[in-house]
Amino acid sequence: MSIHTVATQPIAGQKPGTSGLRKQTRVFQQPHFLENFIQSIWTGIGGVAGKTLVLGGDGRHFNAEAAQVVLRMAAASGAARVIVGRGALLSTPAASNLIRKRHADGGIILSASHNPGGPEGDFGVKYNTANGGPAPESVTEKIFAATKDITEYRIFETQNADLSALGEQTMGDMVIEVVDPVADYADLMASIFDFDALKALFASGFRMRFDAMHAITGPYAHAILEDTLGAEKGTVINGIPSTDFGNGHPDPNPIWAKPLMDEMMSEGAPDFGAASDGDGDRNMIVGKHQYVTPSDSLAVLAANATLVPAYSGGLKGVARSMPTSQAVDRVAASLGIDCFETPTGWKFFGNLLDAGRCTLCGEESAGTGSDHVREKDGLWAVLFWLNILAQKKISVKELMAQHWAEFGRNYYSRHDYEGVDAAAANALMDDLRARMATLPGTQVAGLTVKTADDFAYDDPIDGSRTEHQGIRIGFETGARLVLRLSGTGTVGATLRVYLETLETENLHMDAQEALAPVIAAAEALAGIREKTGRAEPDVIT
Ligand code: G1P
Ligand code: ZN
Repeated sequence: MSIHTVATQPIAGQKPGTSGLRKQTRVFQQPHFLENFIQSIWTGIGGVAGKTLVLGGDGRHFNAEAAQVVLRMAAASGAARVIVGRGALLSTPAASNLIRKRHADGGIILSASHNPGGPEGDFGVKYNTANGGPAPESVTEKIFAATKDITEYRIFETQNADLSALGEQTMGDMVIEVVDPVADYADLMASIFDFDALKALFASGFRMRFDAMHAITGPYAHAILEDTLGAEKGTVINGIPSTDFGNGHPDPNPIWAKPLMDEMMSEGAPDFGAASDGDGDRNMIVGKHQYVTPSDSLAVLAANATLVPAYSGGLKGVARSMPTSQAVDRVAASLGIDCFETPTGWKFFGNLLDAGRCTLCGEESAGTGSDHVREKDGLWAVLFWLNILAQKKISVKELMAQHWAEFGRNYYSRHDYEGVDAAAANALMDDLRARMATLPGTQVAGLTVKTADDFAYDDPIDGSRTEHQGIRIGFETGARLVLRLSGTGTVGATLRVYLETLETENLHMDAQEALAPVIAAAEALAGIREKTGRAEPDVIT
């Protein structure tokens, strides 16, 4: 075994986005692409010598090979120990938990989250810091800077490590510790929720369907829902992870989890349905004949948190990403707790959670989490809902009706225009930004603009400022429109249009109907059809 120093040169396009570096798999497989980025991570974090890292991924195509490269590069740069999930697998929340529990210095997560996998799909690499959360921008900027200066990388020349059996082995001076990917996470869930109440719920005949979408949560859901809590066999579907997610799109929303949606809207639907994404950090919640938007889910969890043992003392505060609906703001106001509005991406919640300023946080893109880890957590959200239902003993439909009656309903939808020409998408945003100051007071499609700004966030903990996080337009009626470009797409640009309107009387309308005036205003303000050349959105959630 020997350390090879390989000469290389910077490769363009290695700037981490909303959630790490995400590219088409075949881009990651180009010579030196992965190696350059990993060496740049080591540089950006001040080296790995003597450090302990956690490593795992969502099992997609190239996960196994990439994990071996990371191990060989960690060993070559002097890492002391790498804790790896068996088979190089770890859900994102399980990785976050392991980093925290084992007091590791950081971790590498191999995942492109909800993006499709396979040779024609996407791959990704994300670095998480010692708090278990995604590296903040101060760190990702250093990593990016290193990708632009790199001249060589170091890698061990050795055989692949055997990651199939639990236990320790060495690679040079570095210890590789293979751990069960599920066990520590399952223990954490048992310490948060009332597992006895959940067992009683399933024993009483409560029926559930969990769609793991052929992705990483299958083994976690089998172990927790079926084996531990006693949900009937078959509760978990698509529970065996595959490298291309069954050739599907592992994003838990009504579009990509349509078979689950269809079942939940059918006559004989189970009481409760849920799904998670490629790496297990997203969740979809759907009751019998009742879909719950992620924004509403966050509000419901906040309103009912004291029913869960870990949160029985109340919440320190809540946080949501800017485009997420303001439903949780109304709950926070009634609880008399802070509600923070952060830029899109989980990394912005870390400081607030670390400082004890908030307990729950969430995003409209099916992400919900708490201070138990520093990532969003799909199964955690599902167990939270089950814990609430076990205590309240009412259906999801009844729970939502009660919630809206108490707080009002923030009708919400996101319209995505995918793979748009990047120059056209940027021009649309620039044009709107240029006109922003003149908008307040004007009438658009029957709505009067009250406020318009380009969202900037001043982190209350470290004082850092993050600008250009999306254009926010508020109307006199309380309705809101947000436009921003995706930071996770891998082809062209994705324009996201977020639409919201508050209703305190008509609580059971179709969301697109309730939002029709805001949708018309978005078109009138931004000229989406003309500037993108698209007649309609590709995905409506
Ligand atoms: C998307 C979501 C965002 C989420 C991120 C990672 O980012 O919108 O809420 O944190 O994926 O899962 P975007 O593509 O919008 O930058
Ligand atoms: Zn994810």
